[in-house]
Amino acid sequence: MKIIRAKDYSDMSCKAASILSAQVILKPDCVLGLATGSSPIGLYKELIRQYEAGLLDFSAVRTANLDEYRGLPQTNDQSYYYFMREHLFRHINICEENLNIPNGENPDAAAECARYDAKIRELGGVDLQLLGMGHNGHIGFNEPADAFTLGTNCVDLQPSTIEANKRFFASADDVPRQAYTMGIGTIMRAKRIVVIVSGEDKAEIVSKAFFGPITPRVPASVLQLHPNVTVVADEAALSKCGDLLK
Ligand code: GLP
Repeated sequence: MKIIRAKDYSDMSCKAASILSAQVILKPDCVLGLATGSSPIGLYKELIRQYEAGLLDFSAVRTANLDEYRGLPQTNDQSYYYFMREHLFRHINICEENLNIPNGENPDAAAECARYDAKIRELGGVDLQLLGMGHNGHIGFNEPADAFTLGTNCVDLQPSTIEANKRFFASADDVPRQAYTMGIGTIMRAKRIVVIVSGEDKAEIVSKAFFGPITPRVPASVLQLHPNVTVVADEAALSKCGDLLK
């Protein structure tokens, strides 16, 4: 696991964006696994800037997003489909048919999970998976549990996740209680993983996830076992790692 220290959110965003742009330049038809949340917004802005400057071409890029709230239609401004369209897709020359995201509107969880897994297999797996991390160490929406998940699954969101994500909704009551998420097995099969973490509020979980025991109680800790993980974290997020980084 390589840990890259960034000064702040903006530096983290630019450094991580450079890794994604290198991927697109090296393999123009790569499969990018993409994430939502506040962490990747600056990174997406930087990719848009590079695209507008003529440095990047997304016309052959395929994407597979990590997760989607169950029950939200794509047109809901809190759906992750809507988020991706607003923060990235509508600003770059990516093709609609190359975008993949779990369908939150499919009420049949087993069918939706099987469909999404088949889609990722058909794409040939993920070349580069971008990840943020929740305060409890969740990746995608894979919450702390007794075992690591394998394929796409339908999760009950933990109260702490609902609390953390309510800032995007009118109230906590409006946050969906369930989500479809790519499984940890699928994430671990990505050829390369880039994790971005910013802010002091993530410092505790950063030290646990990347320097603590590997346990499904801290889902991101499994990333320690992946052969090609780059963590781009700002100083605030690394502030509780101290000597561990030396
Ligand atoms: C949500 C998403 C995760 C994301 C996490 C952290 O729960 N499902 O993919 O990593 O939030 O979000 P933020 O980056 O806003 O801290």
